[in-house]
Amino acid sequence: MPININPNRLQESLQTKQLGRKIFYANSVSSTNKWAKKLAKLEASEGTVVVARTQTSGHGRLGRKWISPAGGLWFSVILRPNFDVDKVAKLVFVASLAVAEVLHELYGLDVETKWPNDVLIDGKKVCGILAETSTQNKKASYVVVGIGINANFDVKKSLPQKLWENTLSLETKLGQKIRLEELFRALLEKLEDIYHRFLKTDFTLILGEWKKHARFLGHEVEVTSGSGKLRGLAVDVDDDGSLIIKTRDGTIKHVLVGDISVKQ
Ligand code: BTN
Repeated sequence: MPININPNRLQESLQTKQLGRKIFYANSVSSTNKWAKKLAKLEASEGTVVVARTQTSGHGRLGRKWISPAGGLWFSVILRPNFDVDKVAKLVFVASLAVAEVLHELYGLDVETKWPNDVLIDGKKVCGILAETSTQNKKASYVVVGIGINANFDVKKSLPQKLWENTLSLETKLGQKIRLEELFRALLEKLEDIYHRFLKTDFTLILGEWKKHARFLGHEVEVTSGSGKLRGLAVDVDDDGSLIIKTRDGTIKHVLVGDISVKQ
């Protein structure tokens, strides 16, 4: 079974207008997001994609490391949506919805979205998303959306022990390797589809679809953010992408940046 990505072969069958019309592939890079940002500064067009077999210095939100062994799907897409920078966070919902739908459609998996940027299976992280932007007069001149999917590797062989408890790979879940190129193609097509809908329609509709996978809603969560920890009921996600929490004393709080863990 072909488990590697061949960008030329992929492009022949890719059903997109923009996304992946240009694909840069590398065996190893520091970070596909970093590479994509460089290309974006050099005027790379919307939809340009970079993908690497491994990343030596992949990064996640809040400056965290993202360990990227061979077998994973590590890629970044350059978008030029021409909107205000405060809308950029919404693209993370667009991307995580695309991942959740594709993993369900291709492999029949029961997939969960977790605020703000994770995709989980069996409560464990299979995918992380990082959107980075450059602004000019409050407008996003480009957005790089980086997507990392733990695909064809064994978590216990390829990742440090501290990550075993909360991380899952598709290989471990499915008991076999997947066709990486098939997954990549489906993701580019789905991402383009949802991204174009996002540009044309109301974000509320897309957020509504994202919420159907968001099992943490209605549960007690602990939110860790720059301003400390907060515990309460995860009531909803607002149209600006912020998490709405109801604390024990009934106060409603909106959190824009942070992490949540679900309490039993
Ligand atoms: C997170 O969960 O904090 C986000 C992780 C994002 C990882 C992806 S892998 C491809 C792209 N390149 C990076 O350096 N990061 C993103």
